[in-house]
Amino acid sequence: MARTASTTKTTSTKKAKETPKIEKQIKTTKKSTGKIPSIKVSEKKKIIFLGSEAAPFIATGGLADVLGSLPKALAKNKNLDISVILPYYSNINEEFKAKFTFLTNFNVSVAWRWQYAGVFYYEYEGVKFYFIDNEYYFKREGNIYGFYDDGERFAFFSRAALDTIARLDIYPDILHCNDWQTAGSIIYLKGMYYGDEKFRRIKTLFTIHNIEYQGVFSMDNYESLFGFTESMKNFVEFNGCVNLMKGAIEMSDLVSTVSPTYSNEIKQPYFAHGLHDIINRNANKLSGILNGIDIDYYNPETDKCLFKNYSVTDLSGKAVCKAELQNMLSLPVREDVPIIAIISRLVSHKGLDLVRHVLENLLTQDVQVVILGKGEVAYENYFTHIAHTYQGKCATIIAYNQDLSRKIYSGADIFLMPSKMEPCGLSQMIASRYGTVPVVRETGGLNDSIKAYTGVKGNGFTFTEYNAHDMLYVINEAIRAFKDKKVWADVRNRAMTSDFSWKNQADEYLKLYDR
Ligand code: GLC
Repeated sequence: MARTASTTKTTSTKKAKETPKIEKQIKTTKKSTGKIPSIKVSEKKKIIFLGSEAAPFIATGGLADVLGSLPKALAKNKNLDISVILPYYSNINEEFKAKFTFLTNFNVSVAWRWQYAGVFYYEYEGVKFYFIDNEYYFKREGNIYGFYDDGERFAFFSRAALDTIARLDIYPDILHCNDWQTAGSIIYLKGMYYGDEKFRRIKTLFTIHNIEYQGVFSMDNYESLFGFTESMKNFVEFNGCVNLMKGAIEMSDLVSTVSPTYSNEIKQPYFAHGLHDIINRNANKLSGILNGIDIDYYNPETDKCLFKNYSVTDLSGKAVCKAELQNMLSLPVREDVPIIAIISRLVSHKGLDLVRHVLENLLTQDVQVVILGKGEVAYENYFTHIAHTYQGKCATIIAYNQDLSRKIYSGADIFLMPSKMEPCGLSQMIASRYGTVPVVRETGGLNDSIKAYTGVKGNGFTFTEYNAHDMLYVINEAIRAFKDKKVWADVRNRAMTSDFSWKNQADEYLKLYDR
């Protein structure tokens, strides 16, 4: 939706009022040095990641985990110079904000608008982080997405990121953009910044973390909000709308997704949310690299959220975690009953309809079920209702809570993740690391990370069809395995020792960058 001139006017007045802290810093910086503090730029291969969230600064989903851990893993390679550019959201942890250094400010064109951008800098775990500040766009209550003007917010960010690169003279060899929020940078770079030789030399990689969210806007915004030119229409327009993800797929040098299976799935209409033809047309550019997790961050030996730490060689702490979890959730403290956990956004593509179909059936058995998540009201109400009905057998916590999630990952026995679609999924990897054996549907990254246990190989339990009774059958298989101490020790060991680190996966990205 295009905003009117009068809205913008109010905005600038508001903005002027809201940015005193920054103004002050600008003055200080200018006074003390008279120029932009320079960042050491090396002769290494330079990669700049663009994304809308990255842990530990700001996190709402799996993308944040990836942008918080992949750059760090790559930065361990001495031949690489790794940076990440993020929006400076007001909800970034205060502790970090206090450490940021103000670098510079300039104005960014968002079609006919001329918007303030401040750039802050912070080096963290070997990675250079740049934060683009504009309080009008990024000082919002509550969440970081879901506002009526998300298109404008990320159009601004996408251009501001390119302008930051020029302003600070940090032109990378590779610009690695993630999801629709930063798709615009590729479109602007290839469509509008190409006259500049330094920009022309940059190669682009676009990673699709979830093809469901494409950044679709009315064509009314094409010129008036995004400021795209006529010659880019073929790339950016799709089904009569602006489609940023489609534009980036068409215009970037290479495209990747977050697992090999998903990179094949999105060639089919069932998975592609309308973009299958576009994906097939660009198949020569497409690859799938399974995400890793930060195994230092998710480590049962050191995790401070756990009731007691433990390792694959000494699991006594896991028993304590289980008992304390049961105690905390008012479930009978019993070692012999399996705890089946779901930690998930409560949305349909996570396969919750399957769970809803057979949960009461499952609860007739001697099991305990723990659900942690937030999302669609229908699921929140359903799981809350079931927890009331089956007190002492089922506990539901409607929240997104890191600390609690770790307590559940460590205290549970079986982790249920029956997604309808799952580009990669990280929870099944985290659960495995904490010795909670996954039951998953064979789709996307679940299919690439969890293999059915056969007695001689495999690290979990899997089913193929999107069918509730197939799922229940496999859950029962897991429960039977749980009851056999020797078998359970074996499958749990296989889960815990599965290599989900970034070590090999980061090398896969390096190969892509080399291409
Ligand atoms: C998205 C996907 C999820 C993936 C994550 C990180 O959230 O839905 O499957 O693990 O991105 O790539």
